[in-house]
Parts: sequence; C-alpha cells; structure tokens
Amino acid sequence: MQSFEMELKEMGKIIEKALDNYLPKSNEYPSKIHEAMRYSTFNGGKRIRPILTIKAAELFELPGEKVLPTACGIEMIHTYSLIHDDLPVMDNDDFRRGKPTCHKVFGDAIALLAGDALLTLAFRTIAKNAEIEGISLRAVIEVIDRISLASGSLGMIGGQTVDILSQGIDIDENTLFYMDNHKTGCLIRASLWSGARLAEAPASDLDKLDKLGEKIGLIFQIVDDLLDVHGDEKKLGKPIGSDVRNKKNTFLSIYGYEKSKKLVKVLSDESKEIASEFKNSRFFMQLIDFLVERQY
Ligand code: IPE
Ligand code: IPE
Ligand code: MG
Ligand code: MG
Ligand code: MG
Repeated sequence: MQSFEMELKEMGKIIEKALDNYLPKSNEYPSKIHEAMRYSTFNGGKRIRPILTIKAAELFELPGEKVLPTACGIEMIHTYSLIHDDLPVMDNDDFRRGKPTCHKVFGDAIALLAGDALLTLAFRTIAKNAEIEGISLRAVIEVIDRISLASGSLGMIGGQTVDILSQGIDIDENTLFYMDNHKTGCLIRASLWSGARLAEAPASDLDKLDKLGEKIGLIFQIVDDLLDVHGDEKKLGKPIGSDVRNKKNTFLSIYGYEKSKKLVKVLSDESKEIASEFKNSRFFMQLIDFLVERQY
C-alpha cells in the first residue's frame, strides 16, 4: 500500500479510538440502538472529514488531538447521513463499507433512530471541545453554528432534498451543482473550516480553506458518481449501479465520462493552487491526488 494511504489508515485508527470513547457502550440500555450506532460507525470508513479537521488545525500549529471531539462529531454526522441515505425510502442500498447496511441488520426503524441518535450525539461531542485546554469558547460556538448550518436544510439536507426530488426528471447544470455542493460539499467545507477555526486561524485563511473545501467537495462527489458506474464493487464496499437504478441525476449522467474527468482535473489543479498558499501543504497535495484517483 502507498505510504499516503498508510498515513490515512493511521489517522483513521486515532479517530476510531476517540469515537469508541464518545459512543455509548453497546451493552448500555437500550442496547439495540447502541449496537446499531456502533455497527455503522465502526465499519471501515475512510474518515476523510475528521482527517480534514485535524489537518486543518495542524496547518495553524494546533496539535490534531485538540480538535478530536469536533472531528468525531463530524464523522458521526456523516455516518448518520449514510444510514439514512441507504434506507429503502431513500437510495435503498443493501451494502455500505462492505457490510450489509444498518437497516438490513437492525430493521428500518432502528436504523432511522440510530441516525437520529448519531446526529444528536454529534453536537454533544463537538461541545466537549470546549473542555480542551487552549480552545476558546467563542471558537467552539462558531464551530457548532457552522456545522449545524452545513448539515441542515441550507446545507447537506438541502442537497439530499434536491437529490431525491430530482430522481427521474431532467435537471439543469445549476441544480446539479447546487445538489452536489450541498449534499457533499457543505460538510467537507465545514470539516476544514472547523479545524482551522479552533486553531484561531485568521479570517482570510478561513476563507481560503472554505474555497478549498468547496473544490474538494465537488471532486469527491464527481468521483463518487463515476465510481457508482465504473468502480469495483469489492473495493468500493457499496453497490455499483445504484444511481442508474434510482434514476439519479449525476455528473456522469449529465456530463458524461470524459467531461466529468476533465472537470475533476480542473478542480484538482485549482485546489492544489489554493493549497499551495499554505506552508506545509504536503498533506493536502497528496490528499487531492488520492481523492482524484481513489477506488474506494
Ligand atoms: C460517501 O462518503 C458518501 C458521499 C458523500 C459521496 P465517503 O466516500 O466518505 O464514505 P466513507 O465514510 O469512506 O464510507
Ligand atoms: C450521498 O450521496 C450524500 C450524503 C449521504 C449526504 P450518494 O447517495 O451518492 O452517496 P453513496 O453513493 O450512497 O455513498
Ligand atoms: Mg443518495
Ligand atoms: Mg446513496
Ligand atoms: Mg453515490
């Protein structure tokens, strides 16, 4: 395995250890809900969003461990969004991260509740960042504000709403960009922004990181759309062909393969240019390449 992927795996382990501390134990009453929350949290996700939070903090010389509560909270929000995204009333997918989806194992009602519980636990966990020495209360409040905005109807849920309402109909390019910038971009942007904000980064750098997040978010979703058709189900851990089955509008369905690939290349050049404005941008440069080339 490439050394950068090893680095991601190592960081993933640190995040998983922290998540294990924040989630109620699986034998805690009522155990079914805690088992379901843990089942979907600990199943080999890439942990890209919490890694972005940690790396954004480190850009401004705050040790990554100081933002772990926020990083874990963001991963809980992401995990909840996937549990709900896979439900029969949404994308109706049976596999996620190589294992049967939450509702396949625990039933629809418990899967729905596990998502709800992860979303609420996320904000409790993020609030715990205030207990860490050297972190300002003001920064934590702004981070909570930012992450709730990014997750709600003006952010991720807004994008998911357009995704669902657009199934089987033709949409224009603006709607496609709105959908993907919101369903995927908003949380990625907030992940970067939050790490840097907790590190008391100057406003101009926060804006730069936000722009970087927007571009990374789009790369992420375009590649996700391409993998849904051209990926290898074993590596991907989720079903190929889900988007076609659900008559989804995707970059692939609207732009086609070549134009989508070209857009990824433009976005990756633009994001590298932004990343290069930070010193110690090595991680971000490698991450951008990883996101462009990823097979899972
Ligand atoms: C999948 O996200 C859902 C999208 C927003 C495209 P990831 O590809 O980050 O999923 P995991 O967490 O690694 O499984
Ligand atoms: C999901 O987009 C985005 C969110 C969960 C917010 P997709 O529906 O394309 O994600 P996958 O392909 O199921 O992971
Ligand atoms: Mg979906
Ligand atoms: Mg889906
Ligand atoms: Mg997809």
